[in-house]
Amino acid sequence: FPHSAMADTRLRVWVSQPLFGDIVGRLREHFDVVETARVGKHSPQDIAHALAGCDGALVTLNDPIGAAEVANAPRLRAIANVGVGYNNLDVSALTAAGVVVTNTPDVLTETTADFGFALMMAAARRITEAERWLRDGQWRQWSFETLLGSDLHGATLGILGMGRIGQGIARRASGFRMRVRYHNRSRLPADVERDCRAEYVDLDTLLSSADHLVLVLPYSPAVHHLIDATALAKMKPTATLTNIARGGIVDEDALAEALASGRLAAAGLDVYEGEPAVNPRLLALRNVVLTPHIASGSLATRRAMVTLAVDNLIAALGHGPDAGRPPT
Ligand code: DGY
Repeated sequence: FPHSAMADTRLRVWVSQPLFGDIVGRLREHFDVVETARVGKHSPQDIAHALAGCDGALVTLNDPIGAAEVANAPRLRAIANVGVGYNNLDVSALTAAGVVVTNTPDVLTETTADFGFALMMAAARRITEAERWLRDGQWRQWSFETLLGSDLHGATLGILGMGRIGQGIARRASGFRMRVRYHNRSRLPADVERDCRAEYVDLDTLLSSADHLVLVLPYSPAVHHLIDATALAKMKPTATLTNIARGGIVDEDALAEALASGRLAAAGLDVYEGEPAVNPRLLALRNVVLTPHIASGSLATRRAMVTLAVDNLIAALGHGPDAGRPPT
């Protein structure tokens, strides 16, 4: 074919954020690639504009996409989300518009479970608070009662959302000799419960019996502010709450109030309702460990996520061995 005819047949894809260049570069073997050099959120108008001439897109949780953003993108056939959570995408609107959506499950499970455990331990044992205290020059002499925390070993771990990551946390907890309870939309098969040494309980029992509660459920409007003042009031005042799911699951003002008043001992948060903005009431508290949405952030895992998303996009646009897979 003459060069111009070849060029006309190449599909075009948009990469919404700078990701690992060596991995994303594989897209160029198949497609014309429009890459964004800037990290961060785009306006809905910019997203719509970027998608307008594209057949596919590689996006992250920074990119909310629904009917309005694809209304002027008649060629768009696939969106590959780099992340297991895909609440940034309106899947039913996209499906109705003929757009396949893929995500990146499995590759981040163990890394994210590691981090959930680390955050829970940091909150329970007051690790970041202790470090700030020491760096502030407040450690004048060793004392028996400095910064006393609560134990993980022998304590009851409550896991809300028992998918892959929840199960990963449960498996880690048995090494710490924790008693594991969970609540989930549906109860797990008996062999999985046995493998995780986890006991299914209703939500109220989970809230009231957990010494450490970890949130690992997917976000949807149905679970918006599921952990509100009423839910927090059911928890033990000595308990900790760790959230590595999505910020919108927790009513942050209610959480700040519970932490400030001693209704809850401590919290570990990796996700926030308005991220990257963090509720100033949480920022003002000592007894909350705050991290910037990095639970899946080991170098190897972030590279694996981008690799899988690139593979998904190539497949979904008919250039790979498999069809793109829908979110699982
Ligand atoms: C996910 O995968 O959903 C994380 O929150 C972002 O990496």
